[in-house]
Amino acid sequence: MITKNESETIALGKKLGQLLPKGSVVALEGDLAGGKTTFTKGIGEALGVKQVINSPTFTILKIYNGRLPLYHIDAYRLENNDYDLGISEYEEEGIMVVEWPKYYANYLPAEYLEVRFEYIDDDTREINFIPHGERYEDIVKEMTC
Ligand SMILES: Nc1ncnc2c1ncn2[C@@H]1O[C@H](COP(=O)(O)OP(=O)(O)OP(=O)(O)O)[C@@H](O)[C@H]1O
Ligand SMILES: [Mg+2]
Repeated sequence: MITKNESETIALGKKLGQLLPKGSVVALEGDLAGGKTTFTKGIGEALGVKQVINSPTFTILKIYNGRLPLYHIDAYRLENNDYDLGISEYEEEGIMVVEWPKYYANYLPAEYLEVRFEYIDDDTREINFIPHGERYEDIVKEMTC
């Protein structure tokens, strides 16, 4: 899908957030300023999160309270470490969103929804949804219709 501005990306995140059941894990792939955090704001809106979702430097995990808890992981500063973070214990409790999942590969479950962000130009992003596991296939179909 193509978004033409920040609001459209938030709206797309909100649409996904409305479809995600408890226990979902979403991996957001893509370069700097691709729109990963922007998209997460939309997921938060769908979950009724009132706090502002952002990416403060050096914070790996932020937990936001909504209809379900939103676990927002920014793995950028983890690189390929071997720490036992204990974060995956939260997976079943709410919705987990991971930015820079390549640095979180050791902890990612077998089934997750991949969302890829491509920078087309300053205002335009191409966003692709790739299900890993059957449980995400119908969600992706609903996103694209
Ligand atoms: N169509 C669009 N969708 C999303 N963001 C857009 C769009 N067009 C422009 N932008 C701008 O691009 C930036 C996206 O920033 P955002 O923090 O969401 O990216 P990110 O992928 O989380 O980056 P990082 O890797 O640094 O965490 C924002 O400044 C936003 O205003
Ligand atoms: Mg970000």
